[in-house]
Amino acid sequence: MKFIAFVMALAFVGNTAIADDAVLSKLMKNNKCVMCHKVTALKIKSKGKAPDLSHLSADVTGYEKGAKIWIQGWMKKEILKGPKKHAFTWKGTEADLNLIADGLIELNERK
Ligand code: HEC
Repeated sequence: MKFIAFVMALAFVGNTAIADDAVLSKLMKNNKCVMCHKVTALKIKSKGKAPDLSHLSADVTGYEKGAKIWIQGWMKKEILKGPKKHAFTWKGTEADLNLIADGLIELNERK
């Protein structure tokens, strides 16, 4: 509940990159993405070997229906990479998945 209030407070502050980074970092930690993925753009380290989520691959950005649909589908194992499913199944809320997808896309668009 405190976290929801925190997200809502940030939404009122405005859509600044700093607020988005804090929300995205927290969501990635709370949902255990960081067990496998590092995110160097957010200074998140990981012992895992999964790709750095600071940048998205062409599988994601080149998806015909858009990167957001790809990420959401991948997280639910509805969209595959060739024969491969994600090593992780999303168990959080749609709202949080929405924030993560938007956050990763925004991060990828930075230089
Ligand atoms: C158990 C380890 C594991 C966890 C936990 C995990 N992932 Fe992954 N993820 C992977 C691996 C491995 C790949 C690479 C799959 C491939 O390219 O074949 C991947 C790929 C991805 C990709 C595609 C990256 C690209 O550019 O192609 C995204 C996006 C992603 N993960 C997001 C997440 C998010 C968000 C979370 C947390 C909610 C998460 N993952 C949790 C292992 C994990």
